[in-house]
Amino acid sequence: MTRTGATIGLLLLASVGAAQDGQATTQSLDALVQTCAACHGPEGQGVGDFPRLAGLGESYLVAQLEAFANGKRENAIMKPLVAGFSDSQRQALAEHFSQLPVKAAQQGSGVADINEAGKKLAELGRWEDDIPACVQCHGPEGRGIGEDFPPLAGQPSRYIQDQLEAWRSGKRSGDPLGLMEQVAKSLKGDDLAPVADYFASLSPKKEADHE
Ligand code: HEC
Ligand code: HEC
Repeated sequence: MTRTGATIGLLLLASVGAAQDGQATTQSLDALVQTCAACHGPEGQGVGDFPRLAGLGESYLVAQLEAFANGKRENAIMKPLVAGFSDSQRQALAEHFSQLPVKAAQQGSGVADINEAGKKLAELGRWEDDIPACVQCHGPEGRGIGEDFPPLAGQPSRYIQDQLEAWRSGKRSGDPLGLMEQVAKSLKGDDLAPVADYFASLSPKKEADHE
């Protein structure tokens, strides 16, 4: 993390601490949401390598906030932020971000071209290694399915790779039925970048859905 990032983090920790005493009233929800903006963008679209939250499933978001707090998802930045939140604050934050509109523009993953090897793995999987197609669970073009299968389209490549590595090394666990853990562990090390680049290059929203 950059020094600016670290400074922002500290400032945010201070403001989150101040917000923690309140109930998840409208006002404190606004204040909480503002603390997320520095890293996840003012409308939850993601910034740099920080993931998009807008339009992710509400139950998925609640589960992630809980996982950061209880350590099933190890992350030094998110843990202290969410550790002091009440259940109702987590719920309110999840509801807020799940309802924000998904924008067609990518949030700057820096990946422009389609990675063909990544596309093949994403769409067909690789049966000899027991890897199902990613799109079976993450939807056509990685736009997500329902509340619990998150979209991958347009998420930063670095972020996607980090998550796959986290499952492989045990830093992320507790996902439903261990499905993702199994997939990640079946991947080879040099599968991660191509498949992450492929999803990062896709628009989170279909052309036809442009507002
Ligand atoms: C200082 C930067 C920073 C701030 C502020 C921040 N986050 Fe994060 N957030 C991150 C990072 C880094 C990750 C990726 C963690 C990982 O790799 O597991 C992340 C991941 C997440 C995820 C998981 C997304 C996914 O697709 O699984 C959620 C949910 C989340 N943050 C919610 C929030 C909320 C809500 C707030 C405000 C209360 C917030 N974050 C504030 C840095 C930040
Ligand atoms: C059998 C279903 C299934 C398949 C196949 C699958 N996933 Fe997943 N994936 C999931 C589920 C469920 C989650 C949510 C995990 C959680 O709740 O923590 C997930 C989460 C993820 C995440 C984290 C997203 C985020 O926002 O943090 C990444 C990255 C990911 N999958 C990549 C892949 C890739 C790449 C493939 C193909 C090689 C793949 N997945 C195949 C079920 C699947």
